[in-house]
Amino acid sequence: MKSDLTKSGAISLTNGDQSFEFPVFKATHGPDVFDIRSLYRQTGAFTFDPGFTSTASCESKITYIDGDEGVLLYRGYPIDQLAERSNFIEVAYLLLNGELPDRQQRENFDHSITMHTMVHEQLKNFYNGFRRDAHPMAIMVGVVGALSAFYHDSTDINDPKQRLVASHRMIAKMPTIAAMAYKYSIGQAFVFPRNDLDYTSNFMRMCFAVQAEDYEVNKTLSDALDKIFILHMDHEQNASTSTVRLAGSSGANPFACIAAGIASLWGPAHGGANEAALNMLEEIGTVDRIPEYIRRAKDKDDPFRLMGFGHRVYKNYDPRAKVMRKACHEVLDALGVREDPLLQVAMELERIALEDEYFVEKRLYPNIDFYSGITLRALGFPTDMFTVLFALARTVGWIAQWSEMIEDPNQKIGRPRQIYTGAPRRDYIDIGER
Ligand code: SDX
Repeated sequence: MKSDLTKSGAISLTNGDQSFEFPVFKATHGPDVFDIRSLYRQTGAFTFDPGFTSTASCESKITYIDGDEGVLLYRGYPIDQLAERSNFIEVAYLLLNGELPDRQQRENFDHSITMHTMVHEQLKNFYNGFRRDAHPMAIMVGVVGALSAFYHDSTDINDPKQRLVASHRMIAKMPTIAAMAYKYSIGQAFVFPRNDLDYTSNFMRMCFAVQAEDYEVNKTLSDALDKIFILHMDHEQNASTSTVRLAGSSGANPFACIAAGIASLWGPAHGGANEAALNMLEEIGTVDRIPEYIRRAKDKDDPFRLMGFGHRVYKNYDPRAKVMRKACHEVLDALGVREDPLLQVAMELERIALEDEYFVEKRLYPNIDFYSGITLRALGFPTDMFTVLFALARTVGWIAQWSEMIEDPNQKIGRPRQIYTGAPRRDYIDIGER
């Protein structure tokens, strides 16, 4: 990545009778940044920003979010346009390369991904080590991490050709590994990928086909899932992407870095929220029980949160949630599911929350995870596979961000500092004197 940091001025910081100056860089969109890389050297002090609410960890050209306006751009293109008019392979190419592909580029990329969808036969042995009731995300962390024990021909991350092969392998094998995790959990035989199917149809077939009979992919449903994958592909420096970048900053194996991202995404405050949101809707069960849960969500002494609501960045409606809600209705209509009680609960919960002063004052809106669970359940996926599908799609963003970091001329190993408030220096005391 070529660095495009453009100085637009400077700020000065005064501490007592001392004054320090720092450059200001201008963004294409969004907040400018104060470049404080020399702060410690100049002042002997650190900044303090746990959770990085006011900290830009890197320069990136991949994704831009405007939390106040509810805007999400992939390489400058609005997410709703991409979701409605593009497809997974084309958007994956865009995120990795920075531009939409022409026909030949798209065909070549699609072919390369297709040719990497199979996994090494020995990788299958890792599944047998898990209990059948293991959470599929636990299997994903283990098996994707195990990929780092294969493919020794593409681990020199400083070789662009090897980085490209590792990137295509990771994107291509995630659906196969994810479908195998699902099949393993239900005790069915693994289904091989097919080279005559598109990326998302291939995944659906590997999940739902059985050797005993032919399986026809429902194009309406696979198109809806393809759209859902596009919505989940990347999202700036969220917790799991920051995990992949930090792991990768030490030069670690790319497959191991993706496994670290999967581990972080699994958390219920992050990608695990789609599973948690559906479990929450099932727990609420009926519309008349919503007020009790709204009260609990507002109670500071109650750890309950409305899963699928709120976001670190979006203080407006998550633009992905709008597309997700539309896809949800499309899928339910295509399946002839007129009255999904959970959808009724979700829509009523959304209506009440958006009128409630607590949620209005804290600017808590539905996020992408609020409607995805209902849609994925309607598509036939069990709840514990929802975050696996999120990880499958987000692998494109993780790989794009990892590649951008490796190519960043300003890249250094990530090594945050801290403020120490522990015991002052003291001498050891023998046990007889304690
Ligand atoms: C994802 O970062 C990303 O980009 C993530 C993601 C991606 O694509 O990678 O978008 C995917 O992770 C979406 C978020 C999924 N998580 C959930 O739906 C879980 C429920 N949401 C909350 O846990 C929470 O909103 C977070 C974790 C998402 C964000 O929490 P923050 O950053 O701490 O702050 P906030 O602005 O959301 O919360 C502000 C206030 C807090 O109260 P105060 O301390 O100010 O009194 O609102 C409260 C929060 O306690 N609050 C909620 C709430 N979410 C926040 N109260 C009740 N229910 C909620 N859902």
